[in-house]
Amino acid sequence: MENEVIKGDCVEIMSALPRQIADCIFADPPYNLQLEGELWRPNMTKVDAVDDKWDQFGGTEEGSEFKSFEAYDDFTEAWLKAARHVLSDTGTIWVIGTYHNIYRVGKVMMDLGYWTLNDIVWVKTNPMPNFRGVRLTNAHETLLWAKRSKEQKKYTFNHHAMKLYNDGKQMRSDWELPLCTGAERIRINGEKAHTTQKPEALLERVIVASTRVGDVVLDPFFGTGTTGAVAKRLGRRWIGIEQEERYVELARRRIEAVEPMSQEWLKQYTQDPSPPKRIPLKHLIQQGLLRPGDRLKHTRLDVEAVINPDGTISANGYQGSIHQVGALVAGSPACNGWTHWTYMCPQTGRQTLLDELRRVIRGQ
Ligand SMILES: C[S@@+](CC[C@H](N)C(=O)[O-])C[C@H]1O[C@@H](n2cnc3c(N)ncnc32)[C@H](O)[C@@H]1O
Repeated sequence: MENEVIKGDCVEIMSALPRQIADCIFADPPYNLQLEGELWRPNMTKVDAVDDKWDQFGGTEEGSEFKSFEAYDDFTEAWLKAARHVLSDTGTIWVIGTYHNIYRVGKVMMDLGYWTLNDIVWVKTNPMPNFRGVRLTNAHETLLWAKRSKEQKKYTFNHHAMKLYNDGKQMRSDWELPLCTGAERIRINGEKAHTTQKPEALLERVIVASTRVGDVVLDPFFGTGTTGAVAKRLGRRWIGIEQEERYVELARRRIEAVEPMSQEWLKQYTQDPSPPKRIPLKHLIQQGLLRPGDRLKHTRLDVEAVINPDGTISANGYQGSIHQVGALVAGSPACNGWTHWTYMCPQTGRQTLLDELRRVIRGQ
């Protein structure tokens, strides 16, 4: 099912997919806009508002907005539960919305145990004005970025790659981007093919921020397939779910025409380097670079430690890892033992940082 658009209801489909198949989910669910009547510009041209059937929850009689809130919340809970089933335990989820729905979605996410990492404001540089002039121009959408739970330790964040979007400085949570217009906007006989096609530049940031080359990105509300198009270009795998046949076909054709970028370029610019492999002190003993009973000296304090056969060290009555004992003897909350303990190097006859030995091992 990878690199495919699956037609159908996303709740049913996600529930039937294998567990934890997705490294990242991007969801652009219905907004529940509940527009009343048509919208016209002052020059009497009609606004392409979102009045699609897929955006409607509940009826039109008086008081129906409350019924529709309830129906919308039930739907939100159902798809977010199904999303949890497919999201890997190192994965993250993005949900985009407007004031019409994002607060309701956010509450349901929190209630289900998702843990928010950031909320990002997509500031639209060319928003549609409020034609009636009765309130502010609505110039942004909000993205919620969350992990599966508070306890989840690992997830991908390409901190360095994201600096590309902010002149080399740490990326911020306000993203200024134009709406999807011009050649990128898919049209059929001059009419927009979909009312809410998202800009590729927005998906590029989402995917670069939170995935690595080869990861699987799943979009349960695929529409025109913007997520799939950008994922393919960025060398990621993708799964799209969309209930309407006309959009399914459109997305398939769109993605087929996309050329992926070269792997070499992608690895260099769209993901951070892998963190160096962790090396336990025990490994240095196994390699014969250190022996149980060898003595280590602290770089700042007049403290000596002895290496134990299990890879722990002992000093001043404490026993533990080089980091734990380093912190305890210094009375500090944390310590990088590799850069705080030295050993006697037999080749040079000099006290040398343990980190030098680690470098030797990493080099191998
Ligand atoms: C806001 S649009 C997504 C637009 C998309 N991000 C794009 O760039 O084209 C929501 C889409 O979800 C689809 N949809 C709504 N409810 C669905 C459901 N239960 N299962 C699958 N697709 C659904 C709609 O048909 C619509 O195309």
